[in-house]
Amino acid sequence: MIFPAELLSLLARTGKLVALTGAGVSQESGLRTFRDSQVGLWAQYKPEDLASPEAFARDPKLVWDWYAWRREAIKGARPNPGHYALVEIEKKKPQFILITQNVDGLHRMAGTHNLLELHGNIQRVRCSECGKFAETWDEDSETVPRCDHCDGLLRPDVVWFGESLPRDQLERAVEAARACDVYFSIGTSGVVQPAASLAHAAKKNGAVIVEINAEPTPLTPQADFSFHGRSGEILPALVKAAFNH
Ligand code: OAD
Repeated sequence: MIFPAELLSLLARTGKLVALTGAGVSQESGLRTFRDSQVGLWAQYKPEDLASPEAFARDPKLVWDWYAWRREAIKGARPNPGHYALVEIEKKKPQFILITQNVDGLHRMAGTHNLLELHGNIQRVRCSECGKFAETWDEDSETVPRCDHCDGLLRPDVVWFGESLPRDQLERAVEAARACDVYFSIGTSGVVQPAASLAHAAKKNGAVIVEINAEPTPLTPQADFSFHGRSGEILPALVKAAFNH
């Protein structure tokens, strides 16, 4: 794969790199992307109808089971070459900040340290009433497991539609996007706010926008460089061309 020389020299020169990733980076690890994740039993639901406080209030067991099903799928998943290429960038450029919308934990499993998880992590579970994190719970229970402190219902520690993002993670992400020279948008449809607006904050402050995605997105017209294909193939090739020649 041939990359523009202008992009390669910019990547070699600057340390101020930021990337935002979405479900597309984990697709090659065997996980379904968000807007493609409704199969079998779950085909009758839209993610928005399962990932919301209203859905949990209406039918907590349904929502709990959907997350249990996704957690089970993640159990066998391993990082792919795209995740590892992002670890390589961090090794070459220690200021590199990776922002992810994914809750699957694969970036950390691959070895990324400078990571902002905007939408939480599916492996963590907390009480929906008092907020206490639960270390263990009965996954096979007929009912939604309860908090050992206040008896409230347990829920995954992820951000649901209509909920605020973790404030410190979002603030640090906005700050990083505003300060970077190159902003990568990788494997995300770019339609969920506020993550989608980070690219615009970066662009407004003069960053070069690089998109790597299977298909064009609403960000594509704003991107300085767009590569359409699989991130597990494009990212390692880009890292090799920019840093390992
Ligand atoms: P989406 O499912 O909306 O988008 C995934 C994008 O990845 C699509 O544009 C695909 O074309 C692209 N894609 C698929 N396979 C790819 C591959 N191998 N390489 C590169 N790109 C690939 O997922 P997100 O953008 O992550 O939020 O969704 C954003 C948020 O919406 C999620 O975090 C979740 C969801 O509602 C919450 O739950 C709060």
